[in-house]
Amino acid sequence: EKGGYDYFMLKEIAEQPKAVADTLLGRIDGSGSLTLDEVRIPQGVLREIDKVVIVACGTAFHAGMIAKYAIEHWTRIPCEVELASEFRYRDPILDAQTLVIAISQSGETMDTLMALRHAREQGAKVLAICNTNGSTIPRESDAVLYTHAGPEVAVASTKAFLTQLVACYLVALYLGQVRGTKWGDEIRAVIRDLSSIAGAVEQVLGTMEPVRELARSLASKNTVLFLGRHVGYPVALEGALKLKELAYMHAEGFAAGELKHGPIALIEEDLPVVVVVPSPRGRSVLYDKIVSNIQEIRARGARTIVIAEEGDEAVVPYADHLIRIPVTPTLLQPLVATVPLQVFACELATARGNEVDQPRNLAKSVTVE
Ligand code: M6R
Repeated sequence: EKGGYDYFMLKEIAEQPKAVADTLLGRIDGSGSLTLDEVRIPQGVLREIDKVVIVACGTAFHAGMIAKYAIEHWTRIPCEVELASEFRYRDPILDAQTLVIAISQSGETMDTLMALRHAREQGAKVLAICNTNGSTIPRESDAVLYTHAGPEVAVASTKAFLTQLVACYLVALYLGQVRGTKWGDEIRAVIRDLSSIAGAVEQVLGTMEPVRELARSLASKNTVLFLGRHVGYPVALEGALKLKELAYMHAEGFAAGELKHGPIALIEEDLPVVVVVPSPRGRSVLYDKIVSNIQEIRARGARTIVIAEEGDEAVVPYADHLIRIPVTPTLLQPLVATVPLQVFACELATARGNEVDQPRNLAKSVTVE
């Protein structure tokens, strides 16, 4: 049932191009518009929404953090993202104009369920993004957009994460389409790029051997740090979470801009630091800033592991290890940038003799608060 792979996680990592394609299937029509009929919240209601609040846990929360960038950029609707476990304890401001998006692979995560119940009690509309048909979270929501990752068995979430991202992009673009905000060439171009993104994921998967080798060479390290900016920041958090749960290593993700506010004190000789570099095209300020962050940590002895777009030559002198990813629009980059981090964590876990599919102390779905 592992399809020839040693672990479910490896199988699920390999299934990502298909999972991504399946999640897009039937949702983009021939004219390049979105048809999300399953989102059974009337378009009139969606036009009146004045705030989006995303609730989720763990990896799904990281998908939500990325969704915030997409939703705010493409729709100009303010969007908050909150850990489901924190949400209702702060007495959040919710009303009928709030769209709450609950993201959950299993559809059974108790914290996320309690958050959505609280939101509905306050009159908010709840849209679930879920991978498990008929599970509790979609049953209790106003609408559901299913991810089509297929069953995810490994405790560490991989293909579900990529499909959650796809679903979030679809919702963001759909809100843009319905509301007519910023609906134009950029959005149409993104829909086109989304249609070919599965190929990009496939391409990354084909270049992972050096990542595996690198992971094995770091098996005796105690700490790995991850840095990113913009959507690269949640990718860094996701890379760190994978490493914690699988390799049982101290792993932390930071927004690269926060380095000087504390974390740079952690940098010492030969400390591995993974840096997610945005595309050099377009948002050049962001790019320049991260390149100088790489220089800063390298000058202090860090061993830099740089994830950068093909053709980005400016980072080469500062990368002790370079991991190439295909060219994608900035907002879609997490779909390709996360894959090496999954492979990295899985290989490190194996090298350290850990149980990959069933990490210690963890359950696949957390049904207690
Ligand atoms: O089923 P859910 O998406 O609601 O689960 C949320 C988290 O428990 C889950 O993503 C967890 O963080 C994974 N083990 C991470 O790999």
